[in-house]
Amino acid sequence: MAARCGSLPLVAVLVALLCRAEAAVRELKVGYYAETCPEAEGIVREVMARARAREARSVASVMRLQFHDCFVNGCDGSVLMDATPTMPGEKDALSNINSLRSFEVVDEIKEALEERCPGVVSCADIVIMAARDAVVLTGGPSWEVRLGRDDSLTASQEDSDSIMPSPRANASALIRLFAGLNLSVTDLVALSGSHSIGEARCFSIVFRLYNQSGSGRPDPHMDAAYRCALDALCPKGGDEEVTGGMDATPRAFDNQYFKDLVALRGFLNSDQTLFSDNARTRRVVKRFSKDQNAFFRAFAEGMIKMGELQNPRKGEIRRNCRVANNSPATTPKEVAAYRVMDF
Ligand code: HEM
Ligand SMILES: *[C@@H]1O[C@H](CO)[C@@H](O)[C@H](O)[C@H]1NC(C)=O
Ligand SMILES: *[C@@H]1O[C@H](CO)[C@@H](O)[C@H](O)[C@H]1NC(C)=O
Ligand SMILES: *[C@@H]1O[C@H](CO)[C@@H](O)[C@H](O)[C@H]1NC(C)=O
Repeated sequence: MAARCGSLPLVAVLVALLCRAEAAVRELKVGYYAETCPEAEGIVREVMARARAREARSVASVMRLQFHDCFVNGCDGSVLMDATPTMPGEKDALSNINSLRSFEVVDEIKEALEERCPGVVSCADIVIMAARDAVVLTGGPSWEVRLGRDDSLTASQEDSDSIMPSPRANASALIRLFAGLNLSVTDLVALSGSHSIGEARCFSIVFRLYNQSGSGRPDPHMDAAYRCALDALCPKGGDEEVTGGMDATPRAFDNQYFKDLVALRGFLNSDQTLFSDNARTRRVVKRFSKDQNAFFRAFAEGMIKMGELQNPRKGEIRRNCRVANNSPATTPKEVAAYRVMDF
């Protein structure tokens, strides 16, 4: 009796919560800016091509932002926000500090878009468009991007720290992490294929070269000649900021990454584990190593799925990707001055 009386308001609260969450979820669609900013996709592509001409690696660095943005409370541009005196930024989270880069390319895209159609294109959508263009510009597949995301009002360093995987992660931990976001084993392996482009620091691999799992020994799942090359790149006690390509062709988006994993030439532990430690991921690695088109199709599908992860909280279209619109400083110049003042 008491339970039934008590359950009425509870149901009402639940319904209200569900409706609110639902209302905030945005309907994403292809061609979202066709009326309001028809040149948006062209502008993004142009700035990305210019960035690549300046520095080949930059497009890989921008592509990585989609992963680090979408996994932490959905694709909401939160990873782009600078820390403020009251809000630690995701940029300073463990997986990001001294590692995420090329934020200035996103700034350049945003400035070009604000000039053409002010207040229209979200930073979250910029990341999604730019990631696709990075893959196309380096020889990978293309796909249609669904747009219409809002930018978050806040970022969460704490959530990034608790969610983003370590380069030490093993296959079963990665499968679990991705499954929690509705991403399959195939999605995990395909998306890891993003490491076909870009670079990583010695910081991210020295443990597996010299002390894998505290053994005092290297990871046994390493081709001997490749290990010698990595030892030379990242000597014990050397400069851990030195970087190396994660596959043999780090400027080309291709299935070399998977061929390398099969040959025990994976760069990160989280790469090699997909071949060496788990039968489910190994099967997919082998398939992609032999069939680049299968990899390309699965990669595009994975990027689209990852790009659908949403932040249900209220958002806005930021004017400057680094700060919320209610910040005392929103122009690039003001933001720079504000940062100097407060830190
Ligand atoms: C599966 C779990 C993943 C782990 C554990 C992981 C880890 C890492 C690490 C440790 C680095 C190098 C960081 C450094 O040393 O500074 C890196 C680089 C990179 N990651 Fe991942 N990653 C994962 C998945 C992904 C996904 C899903 C994408 C994108 C779709 C991605 C894109 C990239 C790119 C492009 C780079 C190179 C960036 C550059 O050159 O600046 N990664 N990743
Ligand atoms: C994988 O990593 C998880 C989390 O660090 C750990 O609990 C588990 O024992 C590891 N599994 C294997 C097979 O090494
Ligand atoms: C995963 O999918 C289920 C069923 O479609 C859905 O209820 C849930 O919200 C999704 N989770 C995420 C993190 O998107
Ligand atoms: C290797 O790692 C283990 C456990 O993390 C640690 O106790 C040990 O001191 C390390 N050995 C070296 C040589 O760094």
